[in-house]
Amino acid sequence: MCGIIGICVINPRELKLGEAIYKGLLRLEYRGYDSAGLGIINHEGLIIVKGKGKLHELEAKYGFTKLHGITGVGHTRWATHGPPTDLNAHPHTDCRSIFAVVHNGIIENYYELKKQLLVKGHVFKSDTDTEVFVHLVEDFYRETGDVYVAFKKAVKLIHGTFAILMITSIDPHKIYFAKKDSPLIVGLGNGCNIVASDIPALLDYTRKIIVVRDYWVGYVTPTEVYIEDLLSEVRVEPETYVRIVEWSIEDASREGYPHFMLKEILEQPRALSQTLSGLRSDSTIKELMRAILEADNLFITAAGTSYHASEFFAYTVMKLARRSIVPFIASEYELYENIAGENDVLIAVSQSGETIDVLKAVRAFRRKGARIIAVSNVIDSAIPRESDLSVYTRAGPEIGVAATKTFLTQTLVLSWIACELALASGSIDLSEYREIISDLEKSHVLADEAIKGSSRKILGLVDRLLPARSMYYLSRDIGLPIAREGALKVKEIAYVHAEAYPAGESKHGPIALVEQGFPVVFIVPPDSGIEQKILGNIEEMKARGAFTIGVVHEGSSLNNVVEFPLEVPRAHWITTPITHTPPLQLLAYHLAVKKGHDPDKPRNLAKTVTVE
Ligand code: F6R
Repeated sequence: MCGIIGICVINPRELKLGEAIYKGLLRLEYRGYDSAGLGIINHEGLIIVKGKGKLHELEAKYGFTKLHGITGVGHTRWATHGPPTDLNAHPHTDCRSIFAVVHNGIIENYYELKKQLLVKGHVFKSDTDTEVFVHLVEDFYRETGDVYVAFKKAVKLIHGTFAILMITSIDPHKIYFAKKDSPLIVGLGNGCNIVASDIPALLDYTRKIIVVRDYWVGYVTPTEVYIEDLLSEVRVEPETYVRIVEWSIEDASREGYPHFMLKEILEQPRALSQTLSGLRSDSTIKELMRAILEADNLFITAAGTSYHASEFFAYTVMKLARRSIVPFIASEYELYENIAGENDVLIAVSQSGETIDVLKAVRAFRRKGARIIAVSNVIDSAIPRESDLSVYTRAGPEIGVAATKTFLTQTLVLSWIACELALASGSIDLSEYREIISDLEKSHVLADEAIKGSSRKILGLVDRLLPARSMYYLSRDIGLPIAREGALKVKEIAYVHAEAYPAGESKHGPIALVEQGFPVVFIVPPDSGIEQKILGNIEEMKARGAFTIGVVHEGSSLNNVVEFPLEVPRAHWITTPITHTPPLQLLAYHLAVKKGHDPDKPRNLAKTVTVE
C-alpha cells in the first residue's frame, strides 16, 4: 500500500517544499501510517528525515515542514518487507547517499537482486525490498554515467508491483518516476509539478492531471513532463493524456469535523444525489445492460465493503431479475476463472479502482475472453481502464479508511442496474419498475432521515456496548450483506470481534456463545416474509439473555420486540442498504471514538490494498 509524493518547484520561496510535501502526505495517510519520511534537495545536497510513527508525531519530532528545497519526495508507509522502524522508513538511499527513492508496491525478486548487490560490495541499511532499487541505480550510474539510463535499467530488472519516485543531488531539478500496478498521478501545477499516489494529494496545487499508465517511465521538472513507454521506448505525448478532475479541495478536507469518517457518513445524502444525477444521464447503463443480457454467465467480484455491495447486487438480481449470478471475493479469483468463458460478463466493483485482487480477477477473466464492467469511484483508475465498460459512483474522494459513502453509492448504482435488468428481462412490469426507481430516486432523502433519526439514540447505545468483546449481526435474505457490512465496520475501527450470520444459521452453532447481555444486532429489511422469520430469531436470542438491537423500518411491530430499536424510514426493500447502513456506521464510529481509537487510522489497515 503506502502513499508517495514528489514535488519540484521553480521558486522555493513561494512554495515551501517541506510544508507542501507534509500536506500531501497528510492527504495520503489513509494508505498507510506506520512510518513516514521526506527526502529534499537544497543547497546542502540531499537531506533525508524519516522515522517510525504517525505523521503528526514525526512532524513534532523532526519538523518536516521546516525543510526547504527545490525538489523533494515523501512517503507514508504500510509495512510489507521489514517491520515499521526508523531504518525501514522511506526514502531509501544508495551507499553514497546521492539517490533517494520512495516506493509503493512489492519488488518480488528483491532477494536475488540483494544477493548480487551484496557480492558487489553494496551496504544495506534496511530490511526492505525497496532498498535494492536504489543500489541498482547506483550500480548502473557507475557504469553509464547517465541518471535516466541508470533509472530505466533498474526498473527493467525489478519484478512485482511498483510506483517509484527518485530524486538525486546529481540532477537536482528532476523527479524520476516509474509505474506498474501501483497507482501514480502527475499533477501539472503553476510553478511546480507534482507526482503522487492519488488525486487528493494534488488538489492543493492543481486539478490538471495525467494518470500514469503501467510501464510508463519518465521524469518531471517544475516546467516539463517527459514520459516514455518502458517496453517500446517510444515517447508518450503527455498533452494527449491531460484531464481535469472534478473533485475540489473541500472534498478532500476535514472541514472542521473531528474525523473524515464522520464527515463522510454525514455527506452520504449529497454523495447519493450526485450519483443519482450521474446515473440519469449515463448512456453506459444501456450498453452494459445489453452486455449482461447477452451473457451466458454473470459474475461479480470485489473485496471488503465493495464485496458487500456486490453481494447485495447478486441477491437483488436473483430476487428481482430472477437470474443466476456468481458473486466471489476477488482474492479467490483463481478458483472462479476455471469456469469463466468468452460469452460471460464479470462486474468488478472497487471504489479506488486500484485493489490488486480485483485487478487480478479482471485480468484473469479477460484472458478467458469475458467482458468486464467496472463500477468505481475514481475515474481513469486501473480497473475501469482495463474494463470494457465503466460506470461511476460520484461520492467524491473517500479519505476515511473505513468505506462509508462509497458503499451507499455503490448499492445505488448496482440496484439501478438490477432494476433495469429486471425490466429488460421481463421479470417485473413497467409499473413495478417505476415504483422501484421512484424509491431509488429518493435515496438521498432516505439516507438523510436515517442519519438524523438514529444519531442521538446511538450515543446511548454506545455506552451499553462499551464492555462488549464480541457481537453478532444477524439478518436474512437481502439484509445479510448489510449485516456483514455492519460487522466489518465495528471490527475494523472499534476492534470488537463481530460476526455476521444468516439469522437462521445462528442456531447451527453461533448461538452457543450467547449469554446474558451478549449484543446481537438484527437488520430487518422491510419485507413482511423476512420480518416474520426474523421475529422468531429475535425471540430465540432473547430467551438466552442476549441484548437485542434492531435496525428496523418505521411501522414494524419488531420495533417493540427488540430491546433497543433503531428506527429507519420505510421504502422499497431495494433501498435497505441506504436506510439501514448509516446507523451501523454511526454505531461503529461512536464506539471507536468512545474507546479512544482513531477511526480514520485503524491499526494494521490501509485503505487501498495494492499488494496480494
Ligand atoms: C472497509 C474497507 C475495505 C475496502 C476494500 C476494497 O471499510 O474500506 O474493506 O472496501 O479494501 O477497496 P476498494 O473498494 O477500493 O476496492
